[in-house]
Formats: sequence, structure tokens, C-alpha cells
Amino acid sequence: MILVGDPQNKALSESIAQNLSCELIYPNIFIFPDSEQRIKLDPDKILGQKVYILKSCNMPIDADTMQLAFLIDAAVRAGADKVIGIVPYLSYMRADHVFRTGEASPLEIVIKLIEAAGLNEIIIVDPHSIKIPEMFKIGVKSLSALSLFAQKINEIEPNKENITIVAPDMGGLRRIGQIDQLLGGSINKVTINKDRDYNSGAVKVAEYKGEIRGRCFIVDDIISTGKTILQAVEVLTDNGAEEVYVLATHPVFSKGSNKLLSDSKVKKIYVTNSIPVSDSESYEKLGILSISGLIAESITNG
Ligand code: R5P
Repeated sequence: MILVGDPQNKALSESIAQNLSCELIYPNIFIFPDSEQRIKLDPDKILGQKVYILKSCNMPIDADTMQLAFLIDAAVRAGADKVIGIVPYLSYMRADHVFRTGEASPLEIVIKLIEAAGLNEIIIVDPHSIKIPEMFKIGVKSLSALSLFAQKINEIEPNKENITIVAPDMGGLRRIGQIDQLLGGSINKVTINKDRDYNSGAVKVAEYKGEIRGRCFIVDDIISTGKTILQAVEVLTDNGAEEVYVLATHPVFSKGSNKLLSDSKVKKIYVTNSIPVSDSESYEKLGILSISGLIAESITNG
């Protein structure tokens, strides 16, 4: 077994390799002036090996998605016995179906691309919807950071009576149900009904269901512009929350989101290292939880 690390996420690459006690190599990547990429793996390291490729497809989304496909192709051509992608953040997960007639279906195309490149199996983390694993023809292991979030909630507030778990939109209902189970059940829950304008991307909170009280923990899969979280934090603080915390798996953090969230009334935001956050993008309220153990454990358990 060998791990091809993600040069953009060296800390996670090293930690997974250490947890698995396996060799870690990095691809040789050359970016041409027009932004085309040349990807090379050392064939001596790859031939006959079970090759794990770690690559989150974040920013720039399309370049990273192509890089993942090229890495898979390079591993196949170098004679890998099996190629397994560890893709903590898969691009276009929110575009998992056609929303309006005439639109493309981006996630279907991304999946076709990486499968056609020769991927044999894939490990993903907190896919946006439960149908995503079923969209693949190859084997999918779908991991979740929710256990890390439940642990963190317990650490912050051991008194379950004082916890409210919050879905910032209807899509988050399943997630708060799972967190509830991990926390032992019967936890107070609030669901916010968010409206997003498909054209402008603007987020509008329509209403909320449930009783807002105690320490509130918003659980989400992705933070991109930060607008969903911001709106939810405002609803909660305006309606009786003692403190508001956020736990979200993928810190996509589009430009401007950090200032928005750092200036908000949120107490603390926890995200995972599925996508690296540089020191310059970080801020005091931000905490990072590592998914390295989850990934290594799932590989060890086969
Ligand atoms: C939406 O369905 C997702 O679960 C997230 O809530 C959303 O992608 C967050 O996006 P943003 O930070 O841009 O509001």
C-alpha cells in the first residue's frame, strides 16, 4: 500500500500515512502558464501497489477536479494494482441533480470522469445528500465527521438539557437526527427553513421550528459563502440562544466568508481538515477537527 498525498493538504496527508504506517509520496505537478497541468507519479513506487490517492477538490474547484482525474490516470498507467481515491471533499456535491429544466448535472459528470480515469474505489466524507454514494458505479465508503461533532458538543456542554441542535435548512434534518442519536437521543432540536434564490444565491430565512434555548449547535456539511450560517446565527441569537456554536464538515470558505463569520455573534466554529485552511484565512473563532483517524480507521478495517 502507498499513499499519494495531497500537496495542498500536507498535514492531513502526513497524519493519515502515520496512522497507517505506510509510505507517503507526493506527485510531481507542473502548472503551465496557461494553467494546464502536467502530473507525474514515480512508476517505481506505484507498480503493483494498492495506491491510495488523497485529493480534495476545493479551490480552484475545476482545476482540482481535473488534477484528481489526472492523478488516477497516472497511477493506472504506472501499473497500480488498485487505485483508491480518498476524496474528503468532492466537487459539485450540491449539484447532485438537475434543479431546473435545461441545466446540466455536474456531479454526474465529475463521477463519470473519475470512474473513466480508472478509479476502483472511493472514500468520501459527509456527502451533501444520501443519494450521492448511489450515483457511483464503483464501491464507495462514505465516512462522517458527525461523531467528532458529537464529541465536541459533549465537551462544550455536558448537560444535555442545555443543548439545542440546529439544522440551518431542511436538508440538515437527517444530520441533526444522527447527532441526536450520537448524543444519546431526546436532544432539543430546531430547524430553520432557508430559502435560496437560484439566480442570485441570496439566502433568506423564512421561519424556524422548535424551541430556541440554551447553547445552540448548528450542524452543517459545507460552509461556502457563510450566508447560511450567518442567517441561522442571527435567528438563534435574536430568539433566545445563550451561545451559538457551529460544526460543519467542509470549510470551502469562499472569498469574504471568513470576515463575515468572524464578525458574527457566533461563539466558535468547528470545521474539519477535509479542506486545508491556511493561517491567513484562519481567525480566532475557528477550530479545526482532524478526520485523519476516521480515514485511517476505515482503511484499516477494509
Ligand atoms: C446547503 O444545502 C448546504 O448544506 C450548506 O448549508 C450550504 O452549501 C452553505 O452554503 P453557504 O455557506 O454559501 O450559505
